[in-house]
Amino acid sequence: MKFSSTLLLQAAATASAAVVGRQAMSMPAPGETVIGRSGGVAPEIENVKSPFSNIPGIKRVKMRYGPYTLPSTKTKNFESQLLGVSGMIDVITHIKKPCTSGCTVVSVLGDLEYTNGTRALTSDGSWLHHSVLFTNGPGRRDAGCGIPGMDPWFSTGDERNPAYYADVNSTIDTGYHINDGDNFFLYSELMNMDPVAKEVYMVLYYDIVPTTPAMTKQTVSVWLELNQCGMPDTSRGNLNLLQQPQKNVFSELTHPWYSPYNGNMVYVSGHEHDGGTNLVIYKNDAVLCDTKANYNAPMESSMGAMPGMGGSTTAQPTSSIGAMTYCRNMGAVKKGDQFHISANYNLDKYPGMKKDDGSLDEVMGISILMISVPKEEAAAPINFMEVTGLNKGLGGLGQLPMKVPQTLQELIATGGRFGIRKNAATAIVPMAM
Ligand SMILES: *[C@@H]1O[C@H](CO)[C@@H](O)[C@H](O)[C@H]1NC(C)=O
Ligand SMILES: *[C@@H]1O[C@H](CO)[C@@H](O)[C@H](O)[C@H]1NC(C)=O
Repeated sequence: MKFSSTLLLQAAATASAAVVGRQAMSMPAPGETVIGRSGGVAPEIENVKSPFSNIPGIKRVKMRYGPYTLPSTKTKNFESQLLGVSGMIDVITHIKKPCTSGCTVVSVLGDLEYTNGTRALTSDGSWLHHSVLFTNGPGRRDAGCGIPGMDPWFSTGDERNPAYYADVNSTIDTGYHINDGDNFFLYSELMNMDPVAKEVYMVLYYDIVPTTPAMTKQTVSVWLELNQCGMPDTSRGNLNLLQQPQKNVFSELTHPWYSPYNGNMVYVSGHEHDGGTNLVIYKNDAVLCDTKANYNAPMESSMGAMPGMGGSTTAQPTSSIGAMTYCRNMGAVKKGDQFHISANYNLDKYPGMKKDDGSLDEVMGISILMISVPKEEAAAPINFMEVTGLNKGLGGLGQLPMKVPQTLQELIATGGRFGIRKNAATAIVPMAM
């Protein structure tokens, strides 16, 4: 469902109160059966074998976060009442990092499991709808939009693809550096498809190496989305402001994003909702990567294909996207290069997700682009308006407010153009950084 890095930045800043309330709302009623607890409790932190054994000093740390109670589809909660979707929870929590005194991440992979460590899959009605990992700490910012505070650097949907921050087949001279003063926040939107509550844990597998002086670069994670930097564009009439489709077959574009960085493109992903056929990332109007939705692939198959993961992939339960392709090691990027996404949908061919009332739910087009940049450039000032192309004469956008909203009042004053939408009630809280 909808989240935007702008919203989550605010939400995570003051997450505690909201999260306590939300989790309480999603707890099962006393005496209600909760499945997913049988067969012992898997460890919170575990060292497992990394598939990248060619990398000196590599360690794969499996960290479990939770538990989260997926409500029964019969439970009335915030999501069913306000978003019109049953069995869903949205939670933001402060979580532990995979290293306490700094390290460099080369890859992350997300998963969902039950208390005993068995993978929780769509075939048993447990859906990892979305999860986004944020870093907050000194100097942290959204590397795409320049918004200070929270860096949304990893995201996964049920395709459970790995993300790469370095070329795992070469000498590691870059990666996502985690520092002492950083804090992690995990936003998870998890969904139950059954009328019985379940207890699950979010799992992140981190492949990490010690940070060394030889690493003169660092990887920034750039979030590209239809709602680019919190600014949805409904001008083509494909989507409304709630991102619900207005047509069955369409290609929706993002506002262009202009790179403030010189560097090398390490990885780019695509994420769509059901109905999506492919998501194309363009660099200077040439195809950089065409990520394809595979409806024939078993659900969670990307992850199952990872060496050392164990567990089996599941059969296709519905006409849902089982896998999305991604690209790696795409070459150089220069400051000023322009990027945009085209998210292509065909809802005649692949039915989209529906709300409880039968109307089409929102759709998404998200891509995360990892760019390895010289360390000093990673901290270079980002001119928000320049990055988003707002000062480049794009139709009508010059009318938008020049300042990123800092409070609930300022957000409201933008008239919703910075993304006050249906999850406003949970996500919009004043920034306090
Ligand atoms: C682990 O939990 C799942 C979900 O409750 C259950 O299906 C599975 O049988 C359990 N595994 C063991 C070994 O108990
Ligand atoms: C690394 O190289 C090996 C051998 O060329 C190849 O099979 C593998 O897919 C590569 N791994 C990645 C993650 O690129």
